[in-house]
Amino acid sequence: MNTDLLRQDTAGLRQGLFFNSAGASLMPRPVVSAMVEYLQQEEQLGGYAVEQQRTADLERLYTELAILLNARPHNFAFAWNATDAYNRALSAIPFRRGDVILTTDDDYISNHIAFLALRQRFGVEVRRARNLPDGDLDLADFEQQLRQHRPVLVAVTHVPTNSGLVQPVEAIGRLCRQSDTWYLVDASQSVGQLRVDVQQLGCDFLNAPGRKFLRGPRGTGFLYISDRALQAGLAPLFIDRRGADWVAADAYQPHPEGRRFEQQELGGTVLGLAEAVRYANAVGIDQIAARTRELHLQLRQLLSRQPHLRLLDRGSEQCSLVTFDAPGRALEDLTQLLNAHKVAYTVSRRSFAILDFDRKGVDWAIRFSPHYFNTAEELEQVVSILATLRH
Ligand SMILES: Cc1ncc(COP(=O)(O)O)c(C=O)c1O
Repeated sequence: MNTDLLRQDTAGLRQGLFFNSAGASLMPRPVVSAMVEYLQQEEQLGGYAVEQQRTADLERLYTELAILLNARPHNFAFAWNATDAYNRALSAIPFRRGDVILTTDDDYISNHIAFLALRQRFGVEVRRARNLPDGDLDLADFEQQLRQHRPVLVAVTHVPTNSGLVQPVEAIGRLCRQSDTWYLVDASQSVGQLRVDVQQLGCDFLNAPGRKFLRGPRGTGFLYISDRALQAGLAPLFIDRRGADWVAADAYQPHPEGRRFEQQELGGTVLGLAEAVRYANAVGIDQIAARTRELHLQLRQLLSRQPHLRLLDRGSEQCSLVTFDAPGRALEDLTQLLNAHKVAYTVSRRSFAILDFDRKGVDWAIRFSPHYFNTAEELEQVVSILATLRH
């Protein structure tokens, strides 16, 4: 792969060593330009006029997502972020008291909180499948719980925020298809990094934000909705006038397509997300996946040679979220060092993933998420910066 080509889009803009993990990813120039141009048009013509004029451009979001995830354009809805998309899906499940949600210990913090809120308000039961000693999900336990508890919803995070673990979402999908359950996948950390194919997953809902491996803008996300879910009439609880028609004084009719999950207020960030997805499709998701794999394996190897650092990721399949700590050292020792060298990173704390961190016996972890625009030299550079902590 020509990595110089991939770096061109951000050349000269980066200040410091930028991993894909500082709250927002590094947007390619065409993504920024698309949004700036849209905003300037709004300044000149007004928001509604521009929205009308640019309808076809805004629609590209759905066609590009359909290519990326192997679905059809009508299966997607724009959302304001990954959590927003997730909660719209969650609100569409007609839970009754005693209904079961089956999930895992490695699901995203906000998803766990949402399940607990559903438990508190509606008496929904929350069950979690066990992990194996190596950190993988215990699929046998998962299957057994699926049979025993007949969950209304199975909800699994593909890649958790706090470690590089990849959960077996395809195998879970196969199990779900043998039983009568809705299947929701949080793919926030995998879309744009790994090949995610909703047909292979057999999921009913899948969400992701723009701002992570897709390299899109903050304040964007999307939801995939299967034909099965659309045909069953699932719709968000708080559906608005974009998602439904008010057809009689006491009746509304949800839109037949995925956009019944959208809200009416759309603007230039939709175009930014569309451009980011187009960009990922143009680079090629298989190329991206191969390159990020190369980089995270290299980074893991370099870090493992540093005796004062401890890699924390577990499980048989790992991806480009690399987490580590430094036993005996304070978090501030590391953050000060990385800040001084302008290295972008993320800190995960115990409260982000109580179950995982308690099992590992750690309070915090530094996370690097190398993306395809990073180079082998940058990885060596960052590890040599961390090596100075030994002295
Ligand atoms: C697995 C996972 N799900 C959901 C989210 C939330 O994304 P957003 O901030 O777009 O709602 C994150 C963010 O870190 C995440 O890692």
